[in-house]
Amino acid sequence: MYNLDNKIAIVTGASRGLGEGIALELARRGATVVCADVNSADETAATLHSLGSPKSESAQVDVSNAASVDSLVSATVETHGRLDIMVNNAGIYTYGEIAEVSDEDFRRTMDVNVGGVFHGARAAARVMKQQKSGRIINTASQLGKLARPNEGVYSASKAAVILLTQALGLELAPYNITVNAICPGCMYTEMMEKSFSEMAESEGITLEEKLQDYLDASIPSGRFGTAEDMGRMVAWLASDEASFTTGSALNLTGGEQVFF
Ligand SMILES: NC(=O)c1ccc[n+]([C@@H]2O[C@H](COP(=O)([O-])OP(=O)(O)OC[C@H]3O[C@@H](n4cnc5c(N)ncnc54)[C@H](O)[C@@H]3O)[C@@H](O)[C@H]2O)c1
Repeated sequence: MYNLDNKIAIVTGASRGLGEGIALELARRGATVVCADVNSADETAATLHSLGSPKSESAQVDVSNAASVDSLVSATVETHGRLDIMVNNAGIYTYGEIAEVSDEDFRRTMDVNVGGVFHGARAAARVMKQQKSGRIINTASQLGKLARPNEGVYSASKAAVILLTQALGLELAPYNITVNAICPGCMYTEMMEKSFSEMAESEGITLEEKLQDYLDASIPSGRFGTAEDMGRMVAWLASDEASFTTGSALNLTGGEQVFF
């Protein structure tokens, strides 16, 4: 069990889904977690208290806004004294043919998915360089490594997350800071359920049929990923045991994709 006692972490997108799973796992291993989200993450923070993490808290942030992210990071350092783990996980999904995507949807996807990771990683890097230690973990996607119809804008945003991760990993390695991305496949969350509902509707089948078809055709492990799977991979990357892993984009797909 990776020990994260006394570590201070920020997790963005922590009000639900993968972010909530990450926050729970880090707290179970001893970290104090600032659960940050554009929506209220009070319930996540309350769960962390019940798990024995009394200093964990919720915070409001819009990751697409640099000032909002800078305030989150400086408030965390002011309250908790340092920042050991920054998990840039908040993201949004955009579905639709590139020919039909609106300017607004394109910009919003880039602002949240790429801007959000950039703002979080930059603010954390400034603190961690001074500390000469830290872990930055970014949520990308398997779609950052492959193209599929209707998912081009989302894919492009996640490909950018992977390259930002790799470059920052090189820049921060001399400071004892690792920077890694996780590329989840299909993880069962509200975001995933919504996107599958849209696909099912466009194909004229039910959500249940769409889910089963996808499992049968695409995931050798025979199940969708979970927030717990995600939390465990983040916990490892955040631990001392992962100190030689940096600039990586690790797959978390149950075999759906096995690319490098
Ligand atoms: N679920 C999947 O199958 C899957 C697969 C690959 C990658 N991902 C990525 O994992 C991450 C989490 O996805 P999820 O499935 O848990 O999604 P989700 O929609 O369930 O949760 C996303 C969270 O991010 C928050 N958020 C959205 N915009 C924000 C903003 N501007 N500022 C702060 N918080 C904001 C939301 O309020 C929400 O709590 C995303 O980056 C997503 O792209 C998910």
